[in-house]
Amino acid sequence: MTRVVVDGVPVLLCNVDGEIYAVEDVCTHDGGALDGGELDGCRIMCPRHGAFFDVTTGKALTLPAVSPLPVYPVTIDGDDISINVD
Ligand code: FES
Repeated sequence: MTRVVVDGVPVLLCNVDGEIYAVEDVCTHDGGALDGGELDGCRIMCPRHGAFFDVTTGKALTLPAVSPLPVYPVTIDGDDISINVD
């Protein structure tokens, strides 16, 4: 995982089996940063209260989070990664 900021938006880039996914790096439960959590396959656990999210869809998988994470389109061109946060 890598945290980047794109146009002022904190974004967490996640490598899931060689595919790169981008989600907002702000937990929808209470605003915690997710980049200190653990990524296991496509699941990330928020380090604050333990909610799990699927980084490929943004879906909240467990309480206390119920709302999905914003997911951003990723384009890869050679070594360049573009993230559209609009
Ligand atoms: S801030 Fe992420 S689970 Fe509470």
